[in-house]
Amino acid sequence: MNPVKHVAIIMDGNGRWGIKHKQSRNAGHRAGLNTVDLIINQCIHHKIQFLTLYTFSSENWKRPQNEIIFLFKLLENFLKNKINNIAKKDIKLKFIGDLNKLPTKLQKIIKLSEKKTIKKKSLNVNIALNYGSKTELISAIKKIKQKKIKINEKNINNNLYSRNFPDPDILIRTGDTHRLSNFLLWQLSYTEIFFKKKLWPDFNVNDFSKILNKFKNLKRNFGSI
Ligand code: IPE
Ligand code: IPE
Ligand code: MG
Repeated sequence: MNPVKHVAIIMDGNGRWGIKHKQSRNAGHRAGLNTVDLIINQCIHHKIQFLTLYTFSSENWKRPQNEIIFLFKLLENFLKNKINNIAKKDIKLKFIGDLNKLPTKLQKIIKLSEKKTIKKKSLNVNIALNYGSKTELISAIKKIKQKKIKINEKNINNNLYSRNFPDPDILIRTGDTHRLSNFLLWQLSYTEIFFKKKLWPDFNVNDFSKILNKFKNLKRNFGSI
């Protein structure tokens, strides 16, 4: 049985869900937060140590301004309302991505949330925000150059935003789209990938359990036979 240490998720399909049910993409983003709560609880239940959630990509700035503002406000309120509860659940929050480009208010609450949960250890929740894998790799290579150290696998790993967590065992992408959209390109080299048709707000505990069970019985070769 394969152990599950790290699950990464591309939470796709909020916009389509919102249009279908409430004629508003933003309503879908709001509904998607309920699924986030559900999956966080499931990770604690299954004793999974790391959960990485793709929340906003470096390419998502191409979206209409009103949707971008809504998304940032939604996250800001989520953190404001839930941070105490998150800390109580022994969850450590970490944000990965180019955070300097985010609204100042959001940056402040992010820093506060990380500080408040820094000593927590049941579950590490990594939020990929204004995250792009190519930017992450470029920044790692720049750091390596500055430090005048060798370019090798270990040094690249140690200079990525993800330096403190193992590579994902499982990647889930909901929303019936089969691509990586610039997410963890280096870290996903040997990850098992599960594409789900369901839109993120419809993804549920049962869907998650099925994926975990399938994964547990997979033969992972890592190049061997
Ligand atoms: C993913 O859902 C959430 C974000 C990118 C913030 P989408 O907003 O991409 O939903 P669809 O793919 O348009 O339905
Ligand atoms: C990826 O979804 C980003 C997030 C889920 C945050 P997108 O919906 O932005 O991806 P593309 O643009 O369809 O590839
Ligand atoms: Mg999408």
